[in-house]
Amino acid sequence: MDATSTELIVAAGRTSAFFPALNASLNFLAAILLVTGYVLVRQKRLIAHERVMLAAFGVSAVFLASYLYYHFNYDSGRFPGQGLARTFYFTILISHVILATAMVPFILWMLWEALKGRFLKHARIARYVWPVWMYTSVTGVLVYVMLYHWRPGT
Ligand code: HEM
Repeated sequence: MDATSTELIVAAGRTSAFFPALNASLNFLAAILLVTGYVLVRQKRLIAHERVMLAAFGVSAVFLASYLYYHFNYDSGRFPGQGLARTFYFTILISHVILATAMVPFILWMLWEALKGRFLKHARIARYVWPVWMYTSVTGVLVYVMLYHWRPGT
């Protein structure tokens, strides 16, 4: 095994340090773009809003592809904490996974309405979708930090 793959594959059973960090970074970037896109639409800078939100959509699509690739090819980590920390971790993780899956058709619908020029409908759907998308992006980062960098009780 060469040096590069040794860095990426950190233990037996194919675990990767690279993909979780990449995926968390993509979630973080999506959250930044979503906030920026929201500020832009409130300032009525609509072309910039369109571009930034399409970038958020692109980043989240890359995240989804990378996430699926990772989970089909590697073992994900096991959360080491117990008690309250474990309950907190799984509450965040389960809400994150359910909302991230459920929001996909709504994102496509919201985007479709915008691209068809039906902006009032787009905005009405977006007012529900935006907070959920933000929540999943932020909790995506949180889950990564808790799973790989938080050692409760040690
Ligand atoms: C895909 C990610 C997108 C998200 C999350 C998003 C989010 C939002 C939100 C939250 C609002 C409502 C703001 C408010 O008044 O409270 C809004 C409005 C708007 N969006 Fe988007 N947007 C997205 C993509 C787009 C695209 C691609 C376009 C253009 C083709 C667009 C055009 C607009 C316009 C023109 C409004 C203003 C509607 C109005 O108030 O009359 N958006 N968007």
